[in-house]
Amino acid sequence: MKVTVVGVGAVGATCADNIVRKELAHEVVLVDVKEGVAEGKALDLTQTTSLLGFDTKVTGTTGDYSKTAGTQVAVITSGIPRKPGMSREDLIGTNAKIVKEVASNILKYSPDAILVVISNPMDTMTYLALKSLKLPKNRVIGMGGALDSSRFKTYLSLASGASQGDIQALVIGGHGDTTMIPLTRLATWQGVPFSKVLGADDLNKVAADTMVGGATLTKLLGTSAWYAPGAAGAAVVESIVRDEKKVFPCCVYLEGEYGQSDICIGVPVVLGKNGVEKIIQLDLNDDEKAKFQASADAVRNMNNVLNDMNIL
Ligand code: LAC
Repeated sequence: MKVTVVGVGAVGATCADNIVRKELAHEVVLVDVKEGVAEGKALDLTQTTSLLGFDTKVTGTTGDYSKTAGTQVAVITSGIPRKPGMSREDLIGTNAKIVKEVASNILKYSPDAILVVISNPMDTMTYLALKSLKLPKNRVIGMGGALDSSRFKTYLSLASGASQGDIQALVIGGHGDTTMIPLTRLATWQGVPFSKVLGADDLNKVAADTMVGGATLTKLLGTSAWYAPGAAGAAVVESIVRDEKKVFPCCVYLEGEYGQSDICIGVPVVLGKNGVEKIIQLDLNDDEKAKFQASADAVRNMNNVLNDMNIL
């Protein structure tokens, strides 16, 4: 199993660190455009081998994609991150060109690779990779919902004292501060609905905190977060390479599911060796359906920018 991580800023490097610690691949290749950085981070990670007790070969390259040949799963984190006050959507002009180029370089040497997209605005970058490279829908996965759901579980845990591992909770819709939908009605503590554990005000606050989970960190850190985004990327990779068939909300291409078509947006999916193996259709109530429609409208508006850029 060979996994490539493109873009080894904080998110990419953290994702790679999690992948090697868990021995999800025999070989991990890091790629970056900044001279020497991927090679340096690969060597640094390699020097943790005996300390952490894993056996994965880690190599790095400054933009030589021939080194990525034979990749089964590629994680794309390339592009600029948010600065305080910026939305994920503000990044589209710069990141669209970068993500398209990275995805086509990966596929040139690994035509069957499954792509895991982390770059923002993630829903639109996922759509761009799928459409511009005409990839089958099982092979392009945006990881935003996996991250947003882990943030949702964190805030549910902080509010209730529940162990995060005992919490089932999903965030669907777009990966944007106003487009994501934490499904409070369906969140449970080992089967007990959180509506029976927390009051309505507390639950609303959990949802609001979740939605600005990334922005809160960007404000604190001066740039976007990396531990949870990197871990979420690695968790998505893990379910694919180990064929775990875990359910994560991920950004995937819809063809009629949830009443939407020709869009990549977050819904719960089963992830296994073929990438997206199943889209799970939740029974949403009217309010949740309306929120999903509004979220899809916002993602579609952003996707239209790709048409204006003539990049699809
Ligand atoms: C975040 C970025 C990675 O939500 O989208 O932290």
